[in-house]
Amino acid sequence: MIEKINALKAVIQALTANSPEEAEALRIKYLSKKGVITGLFADFRNVPAEQKKEVGQAINELKTLATERINALKESTSAVDTSALGLDLTRSAAPVALGTRHPLSIVREEIIAIFRRLGFTIAEGPEIEDDWHVFSSLNFAADHPARDMQDTFFIQREPDVLLRTHTSSVQTRVMERQKPPIRIICPGRVYRNEAISARAHCFFHQVEALYVDKNVSFADLRQTLLYFAQEMFGPETKIRLRPSYFPFTEPSAEMDISCDLCGGKGCSFCKGTGWVEILGCGMVDPNVLEANGIDSREYTGFALGMGIERITNLKYRVKDLRMFSENDRRFLEEFQAAH
Ligand code: DAH
Repeated sequence: MIEKINALKAVIQALTANSPEEAEALRIKYLSKKGVITGLFADFRNVPAEQKKEVGQAINELKTLATERINALKESTSAVDTSALGLDLTRSAAPVALGTRHPLSIVREEIIAIFRRLGFTIAEGPEIEDDWHVFSSLNFAADHPARDMQDTFFIQREPDVLLRTHTSSVQTRVMERQKPPIRIICPGRVYRNEAISARAHCFFHQVEALYVDKNVSFADLRQTLLYFAQEMFGPETKIRLRPSYFPFTEPSAEMDISCDLCGGKGCSFCKGTGWVEILGCGMVDPNVLEANGIDSREYTGFALGMGIERITNLKYRVKDLRMFSENDRRFLEEFQAAH
């Protein structure tokens, strides 16, 4: 009896099946009511009493072995064979690598959000422009050095086509089709013929703001600037305005903010002055309003313009301008948590 059981064990261990049906046939052959193993339990009655324990155990083990073996055959024959597809369905899912937002986009969105809270809406204009929108309508004299080949990428003379050197061109684009009140913010890319270095690039980004209405005053400009600076750089931030010159504003000013690295005491970042320059601004020159068909006796306005790279450098201390356009993922991934 024991030999018979051991022989059956060997047979069962070697069982194979090519389909679930074949596995089921094996179950019937060995484990059903009239099956081979069930038959052994019938023979068990004739086993001498002193062998009953040993034989009983052996039959039970054989039954367990057969059940497991046949169940395994059923499972393996009914599973879809994915090996041929080159897929490993047992692998855990790979984590989804989320992209990051570009630091210039983060800062641009932040600037827009601040001005939006003051009622400014976004306006855009073309990067490929003409002399009128970039220079003449903005009160640049015919011999102004900004028109010089050194600064502007001229594409064509007649009719004149050039790449805009500042987003101030969008002021004209809006004023020529819209009557005051005008309250716009214009983000965009600008181009200048500069040698590329850590501190200069042939393209960069600006945000322009323009507000034209009745009774707009320098006090409105100053309060707008203070609000912007404190929202952007924190409530402790101080501002100071220095007289400056731009063809399209009169009077013109440059705005500095208190250096947040040293708290205004003076450090290497602010070159010991306690202040860092961040933007240009002023009251829209009446000549600019008139050139764009707006009555300068009825309306006044203020304008301001800033470089997004400059603001980003101040916020995140990026030391080399070239990093913004190299798309080095190690740099971009630094901004993972910043929004
Ligand atoms: N367009 C100037 C530039 O590119 C920046 C600027 C200065 C814009 C003063 C303004 C402004 O609107 O009022 O350097």
